[in-house]
Amino acid sequence: MIDTHCHLNMITDKNGKIDFIKIEQILKNMYDNRVEIAITIGSNLDDSKIGIQIASKYKNIYCAVGVHPEGVDEFNLDKLESLVKQNINSGKLVAIGEIGLDYYWRKDNKLEQIKIFKQQIELAKKYNLPIIVHCREAFGDCLEILKQYSPFLNGGVIHCYSGSIEWAKEVINLGFLISFTGVVTYSNAKNVQEVAKWVDNDKFMVETDSPFLSPAPFRGKENCPSNVVYVAKFIAELKNISYNNIDKITTKNAKKLFKI
Ligand code: NI
Repeated sequence: MIDTHCHLNMITDKNGKIDFIKIEQILKNMYDNRVEIAITIGSNLDDSKIGIQIASKYKNIYCAVGVHPEGVDEFNLDKLESLVKQNINSGKLVAIGEIGLDYYWRKDNKLEQIKIFKQQIELAKKYNLPIIVHCREAFGDCLEILKQYSPFLNGGVIHCYSGSIEWAKEVINLGFLISFTGVVTYSNAKNVQEVAKWVDNDKFMVETDSPFLSPAPFRGKENCPSNVVYVAKFIAELKNISYNNIDKITTKNAKKLFKI
């Protein structure tokens, strides 16, 4: 099993330094639950750098670097590109992300969000990396941009999927996967459950987005990569297939996309 999207780079101590002791506990717990690999995702330049540090220290940890729409004001393309350049041959940098649009968070800076989303798509294409897309309440603009930049020869994923089946069809046609978090386990997430039931086995992955979005039994508590097991178990029941099969399917999809 792979947790394809977590934020180990947010595990810091009171002084804002990476808390390696806590990270090692999290990793032990992960391996104990047969989650063998995790990908730690960047949301700004600083935590992208931390992600690289964590991934280079631990064998089964990989990373993505990128700037989330919330980081739009501090975005610096040159600095991000030099980080990519320095690490592209490390074997640990597997994607650009998370990048995208979030109109739930802010609607007043749509043009800036779109601008940095496009710049980072171009960066991913330049370095032959897949993209990890965050899309919240911005489905129209997001799809338009993805169509504009199609084809994506290195693919990508719409993370924490929250859209409709129709929208999923569109992005899957563009070569994207979709990925489910603990949100799928929530009783008020019927639409996400419908998408999970519907999606073909070779088109989806699972993730935690930890420390956020704990699955149902732990909702409200701090999330961790081992909880990806609960996301996978829930989807196994929805799709009426075994946990072992979900494990195999999602691991295969993730390894193919991220080339690990
Ligand atoms: Ni995330």
